[in-house]
Amino acid sequence: MIPRPETVKLNKKSNSPQVISVTSGKGGVGKTSIVANMAILLSSMGRKVLVFDADLGLANIDVMLGLSSKYNINHLLQGDCDINDILIEGPSGIRILPASSGIQELSILSYEQQLTIVNALDSFQDNFDYMLIDTGAGISGNVTYFNSAAQRIVVVVTPEPTSLTDAYALIKVMRTRYNIKRFEIIVNNVLSAYEGKEIIRKLIFACDKFFGDIALDMLGSIPHDSTIPESIREQRAFIEINPGSEASKRLGAIVKRIDSTNAPQESGTLQFFFKRHIESSEKG
Ligand SMILES: Nc1ncnc2c1ncn2[C@@H]1O[C@H](COP(=O)(O)OP(=O)(O)OP(=O)(O)O)[C@@H](O)[C@H]1O
Ligand SMILES: [Mg+2]
Repeated sequence: MIPRPETVKLNKKSNSPQVISVTSGKGGVGKTSIVANMAILLSSMGRKVLVFDADLGLANIDVMLGLSSKYNINHLLQGDCDINDILIEGPSGIRILPASSGIQELSILSYEQQLTIVNALDSFQDNFDYMLIDTGAGISGNVTYFNSAAQRIVVVVTPEPTSLTDAYALIKVMRTRYNIKRFEIIVNNVLSAYEGKEIIRKLIFACDKFFGDIALDMLGSIPHDSTIPESIREQRAFIEINPGSEASKRLGAIVKRIDSTNAPQESGTLQFFFKRHIESSEKG
């Protein structure tokens, strides 16, 4: 098992960001939509937010928000530019570190590539209150790596049975490989609040059956809303197009919950998290 970085306590820098990964077992459950809108909501509450598109080979978030970037993470890894050249500004002043598109090699980062990203992000950490990581789907090395580096892991599930089994598979890998025992859950695309509660109940049941020590915190559910795909087609955030919709209100409540609760894990610097992780991976 790879030890998790937070086992060593550091003096928490008051201005170090909360690092939150938004992840899923199954693809297409709404991670990128949630991250984009969550970032804008946090920013409108006065928080400084950096979004890291960690689906490195398949750029998503900048496209979803209608932004274009001259440089992306691949240019950083190639040494063609530094992080200042890459960051782009999105709605409400959020900053985005865009992924590249169609570069398959980035779906498995090497140790050196991990370090380059770590050092680049670390140089920025004092400037932000939140760093949101939009991971790819599944249980690949990149996904579990970025999840293990975050202080809070938000797993997005939908009522589809495959989404539930894949969420469980991801939780199982994070628990077995990194001994992570706490996850926060958003149930997306529900037909009713009751359906959301049923999903989390099933997930808790599965986790309890195989591990007695996993805590799942329900952050909330977001209803199915046909205007969300429309907003993506318009390349705009749904909370901007339709701030009064039930989906926007529910996400607003989730964001307030996140902002009003502390990171469950002891917080060190971002570099501490990443570097410790890399060192442990190297040993393991
Ligand atoms: N609550 C919702 N109601 C209706 N449609 C939704 C909802 N949430 C997301 N969608 C739609 O689901 C699709 C997938 O969303 P998104 O790209 O955010 O998922 P993802 O988890 O990031 O996917 P990937 O795993 O490919 O990165 C989009 O077309 C989006 O509009
Ligand atoms: Mg996505």
